[in-house]
Amino acid sequence: MRVILYVFSGTGNTLKIANLYKRYLGDVDIYNISKKSAPPPSPDGYDLVGIGYPIHAFVAPEPVREFCKNMPAVERKRAFVFKSSGEGLHINDCSSQKIIKILKKKGYDVTCERHFVMPYNMIYRHRDEMAKQMWIYAQAMVDLNCRELLSGVREKVVKRRIWRPFVEFIGFTERHFAHLHGGFFKVDAKKCINCGRCVKACPQNNIKIKKDKYKFGHDCCLCMDCSFWCPQDAVKVGIFRFWKVHGDYKVEQLAKDGNLPFPYVPDKAKGIYRLYKKYYRECDEKLKAANINVGDYI
Ligand SMILES: Cc1cc2nc3c(=O)[nH]c(=O)nc-3n(C[C@H](O)[C@H](O)[C@H](O)COP(=O)(O)O)c2cc1C
Repeated sequence: MRVILYVFSGTGNTLKIANLYKRYLGDVDIYNISKKSAPPPSPDGYDLVGIGYPIHAFVAPEPVREFCKNMPAVERKRAFVFKSSGEGLHINDCSSQKIIKILKKKGYDVTCERHFVMPYNMIYRHRDEMAKQMWIYAQAMVDLNCRELLSGVREKVVKRRIWRPFVEFIGFTERHFAHLHGGFFKVDAKKCINCGRCVKACPQNNIKIKKDKYKFGHDCCLCMDCSFWCPQDAVKVGIFRFWKVHGDYKVEQLAKDGNLPFPYVPDKAKGIYRLYKKYYRECDEKLKAANINVGDYI
């Protein structure tokens, strides 16, 4: 089965998930959704199309919504959606409803969607123990989804959710807020070494250098690539400065680190970990039903 994954990823989590699909499905091409990428390869000649993105304020980021609107119409092509986010709340599932609607209108036969919890790139930095658990489960759950895709899974993907109108409203405001707020990003001249990494990486072409000064325009999509990966941690992120997360989690290494406990979120978890308990319980049930042992992915 030939597969094409069209992926948007600001800080790398969704791309890591896409690479897991490549690991377990085999014949997979990955295309990065960005204003800088070459024109996307046509889905013709592929048996399955995947759309991957991070959840931003419960919705799919603007570049993904725009990309889907511009995808070519097809005659019934199998497709699926996968997304990553920092917590497994079901309200996050609404993020794909708009995307699925667009894809269906264009003739894509969306047969399933999956949501993977990955370490936050915003709000606060997850502990290494937590990131380890997230990555081990992500591997097992992607493997499971690949088996399902290969066996022709078909699920109900358009779901009625009471909070959907609220989420659609957030989606509308998120886009405008990101544009407006992006202009408040700044580079700390004392830390900056002028490597230009942020300019090269910005998927929206939103950062320009004028007279040796970095200028952020109003086409930001809040992907956080510029600030997360800056080697000097020199990018200031406006009103999100208290929520800033900087630097890769190196999940592959963490997953192999025997000094970190696994599983980290216990079944009797309290406080903030209650956000994750339900997600992992659901994963455990699905993996058990498929005879998959999560311990095999350490
Ligand atoms: C602007 C913004 C909004 C976010 N909103 C949510 C959210 O509503 N729910 C959530 O669980 N995670 C949220 N996150 C966290 C990301 O979805 C998560 O870290 C994701 O895995 C990042 O993927 P990426 O590395 O591919 O960009 C948000 C991150 C950003 C930057």
